[in-house]
Amino acid sequence: MALQNGNGEHYSSDHILHSQAHIWNHIFSFVNSMSLKCAIQLEIPDIIHNHGSPMTLSELVKALPISSEKAQFVYRLMRILVHSGFFTIKSISKTENGEKEGYFLTNASRLLLKQEPLSMRPFLLAMLDPVLIEPYHFLGTWFKSDDINPFDTAHGTTLWEYAGHEQKLNQFFNDAMASDAALVTNVILRNCPHVFEGLNSIVDVGGGSGTLAKGIAKAFPSVNCINFDLAHVVDGLKGSSNLVNVGGDMFKGIPKADAVLMKWILHDWNDEECMRILKRCKEAIPSKKNGGKLIIIDMVVNHAEGDYKFLETQLFWDIHMMVHVKGKERSEKEWAKLFVDAGFSEYKITPVLGLRSLIELYP
Ligand SMILES: C[S@@+](CC[C@H](N)C(=O)[O-])C[C@H]1O[C@@H](n2cnc3c(N)ncnc32)[C@H](O)[C@@H]1O
Repeated sequence: MALQNGNGEHYSSDHILHSQAHIWNHIFSFVNSMSLKCAIQLEIPDIIHNHGSPMTLSELVKALPISSEKAQFVYRLMRILVHSGFFTIKSISKTENGEKEGYFLTNASRLLLKQEPLSMRPFLLAMLDPVLIEPYHFLGTWFKSDDINPFDTAHGTTLWEYAGHEQKLNQFFNDAMASDAALVTNVILRNCPHVFEGLNSIVDVGGGSGTLAKGIAKAFPSVNCINFDLAHVVDGLKGSSNLVNVGGDMFKGIPKADAVLMKWILHDWNDEECMRILKRCKEAIPSKKNGGKLIIIDMVVNHAEGDYKFLETQLFWDIHMMVHVKGKERSEKEWAKLFVDAGFSEYKITPVLGLRSLIELYP
């Protein structure tokens, strides 16, 4: 029997085939991520970059650490990555038989080079590691269980506990965060250094391996910086004349400073936990009149209204938070409610970080 809509009318073949294509596109969306991961594992962007000029397919095949039987598949891997915007292919010279074509890097693949100081390579490899992909297979099971999140269903523990016991996860997770923090530090210090001006001290809560705190300490030598995170994260980290690393639990207490910085912290936690963290933050800083404030770096969902790709990526992140932790990505309305409920008086959102925003919050 053919498909019917709610009015009993039959769908046209075009509608059915269009829907089938839509479903296929969603079934195979992961092929984009996995093809990209494969290219990064094979170091294709680095090979093209180190070649110093656009690379033909045969040059690329020769440079790859693969057997000759696999050579025929490289064209197909590159074809989807050209389609998804990670490489371009253009004519580089004319030959007797036609054009000679070469692969070029794009801005996106340049940001995945090993040697690029702002490289997102560690972040990509961590997010697509089987430990973080496995919980997605348990999403449906988790909905019907009492488990905290699908990560717990898959691994029998929370992400933070797992990282505390498994050095490999701890390392790649912290490296991933550090690579993102390097990019954010660069953009913030370049585009909005004023948020740190006038401060004598700042504490980066959940600062990981301290990339952001290090960047601020270097850019503002008169500001005393504290990188605060769980003991297993800060153990062994080196400080400097105006940077110390402190281990502890933000739910119990936060070292005192003029400002508290929290990058990618509140999106890890549910509203009740965020309230508890925000209250600890409030205890750590002086009043607004005496210069106290919070600087939050997180998403504000649909802030760039109408941008389909931005919103879709923010919604991916929201599910990612649901799968791995207990948090969520919040709209401005949800942030505002949280801030009022935690006893803060005023906030200002500056959308300077692409998908994320910088939120200044005052007691
Ligand atoms: C998503 S990561 C963000 C790291 C860093 N702020 C960044 O964006 O690069 C969350 C951080 O919160 C830390 N964290 C988790 N629970 C914590 C707690 N109870 N007290 C302090 N830090 C905690 C984790 O160890 C991790 O470094």
